[in-house]
Amino acid sequence: MEIIDSIQKMQETSNRLRREGKRIAFVPTMGFLHAGHLSLMQAAKKNGDVLAISIFVNPAQFGPNEDLDSYPKALESDLAKAKAVGVDIVFTPTKDQIYPDGFETYVQLERLPHHLCGLSRPVFFQGVTTVVTKLFNIVKPHVAIFGEKDFQQLAIIRRMVNDLNMDIEIIGGTLVRESDGLAMSSRNSYLSDTERKEALRLSQSLTKAQEMVADGERNSAALSAMVSAHIGDCPMAEIDYISVCDPDTLTEVETLTGPTLMALAVTIGTTRLIDNTVLIPS
Ligand code: PAJ
Repeated sequence: MEIIDSIQKMQETSNRLRREGKRIAFVPTMGFLHAGHLSLMQAAKKNGDVLAISIFVNPAQFGPNEDLDSYPKALESDLAKAKAVGVDIVFTPTKDQIYPDGFETYVQLERLPHHLCGLSRPVFFQGVTTVVTKLFNIVKPHVAIFGEKDFQQLAIIRRMVNDLNMDIEIIGGTLVRESDGLAMSSRNSYLSDTERKEALRLSQSLTKAQEMVADGERNSAALSAMVSAHIGDCPMAEIDYISVCDPDTLTEVETLTGPTLMALAVTIGTTRLIDNTVLIPS
């Protein structure tokens, strides 16, 4: 496994691989790798000849009061995990290389960021689309994999790649959960034992919503009310949003007529968690 920390070296390596006819598969990450990240890498391996990942905590996607400085890091164990799943190249640029003095170009979408997480995290998606564009220009992948855990991020990347004619195949990877249902996230490491138990309310309420839909419920307000009651019952939980929306446009849906996204963002203590499921009325 090769570790590359310079943009120029990464571009030269990708150019060489492309000349050799190799298909480059890419998984961008912010590190502190868990089984959710590793599942994307396993899927990526099946979709390319060479597997590149990046580890870069992207300052542009954190707001001024967010957790950029405390975001968990574990480079050594990340490298061991990456090696164990068969990663070929780990790209680990520095902040100064990605955002040198004078940097002023950002990639912005008009509509998709103005829903769900974008409402309470106004700079987040502009930071994501900008860094992902840069990483695509540096790593030059044929295919890139993003997790359905961050459903809105995946939708935005697909839209961006389409709108800007980037010649890259985008694949969505299934959301990986802990055995008790908690969606895996690097930020779960912030949770105390009590908060960790309370955090289960997110996945529990999504499961309950699926059951209600299976029993015939089609009214979004009824589903949201159930989730709101189940999560709101916990004093340490603060709901940011409960959204029942179209999985492509992310606009709110009143009555379920086809596959519909239910997405949640909840702060437990000081940790903001997200989770989602696609509800399928039969
Ligand atoms: P990060 O949160 O490190 O996630 C990297 C990738 O792993 C993303 O595609 C994310 O959706 C996926 N992922 C995280 N938890 C997952 C889970 N439980 N199951 C499946 N996939 C999961 O997302 C980012 O980093 C950044 O925004 C990034 C795209 C790297 C741009 O900076």
